[in-house]
Amino acid sequence: MERRPIIAGNWKMNNTASEGVALVEALKPLVADANCEVVVCVPAIDIPAVSKAIAGSNIKLGAQNVHFAEKGAYTGEISANMLKEYGVEYVIIGHSERRQYFGETDETVNRRTLAALAAGLTPIVCIGESLEERETGKTEEVLDRQILEGFKGIDDISKIVIAYEPIWAIGTGKTATDEQANETIGYIRKKLAEVFCPVCAGKVRIQYGGSMNAKNAKGLMAQPEIDGGLIGGASLKAPDFGVIVHFDR
Ligand code: 13P
Repeated sequence: MERRPIIAGNWKMNNTASEGVALVEALKPLVADANCEVVVCVPAIDIPAVSKAIAGSNIKLGAQNVHFAEKGAYTGEISANMLKEYGVEYVIIGHSERRQYFGETDETVNRRTLAALAAGLTPIVCIGESLEERETGKTEEVLDRQILEGFKGIDDISKIVIAYEPIWAIGTGKTATDEQANETIGYIRKKLAEVFCPVCAGKVRIQYGGSMNAKNAKGLMAQPEIDGGLIGGASLKAPDFGVIVHFDR
């Protein structure tokens, strides 16, 4: 089953609009010949400027969150249509930082995911276990719950991208080993086959995220189950991101 790899930068709360434009200008020549989808998921307020700056390049635009309502009295929130007007194609949903600091739950992840799909955006839904959960043997139980609750009611699961981000590897410099990441992503695909269907599960692109960088990306990307990366810190440095998108397949 051919799955087109996807490398996405998650800038998190970094880069003003002008800094973001400078970063994508530096990135453009470094990623132009990448043999994968290249996405930058930028702070909402950077979207208009970055959207303009990447026009005509192979860099695609992503947001970091989306509200589940089409419109209405939700102060501070942003709808899928607002994102679409600026050419946003991807949206990160349920990042562990949102689950930890902003009360995101499997239920709100599910609602946001369904709204994004209905609007024609591709959700990049983040799942993953904490260190304590891994050490107490609960990884599969946690992933099962995130899949069953978070992906409820999705008609075509192949329309979403999943980012497997073990929380203990995010921003810690502690990456999962290539084999650990491959094995857990393999488990996620097996569960998707069981809950949805084997053919659809074979089409879902599953990224690894967590301290992925210019040094370890090649090894991770050589694993058969890993279809891409969701990159935090290293996506803020153009030369590093430029290296990450050039893996052998
Ligand atoms: P780091 O690459 O900085 O560990 O962040 C990973 C991440 O959370 C991407 O969404």
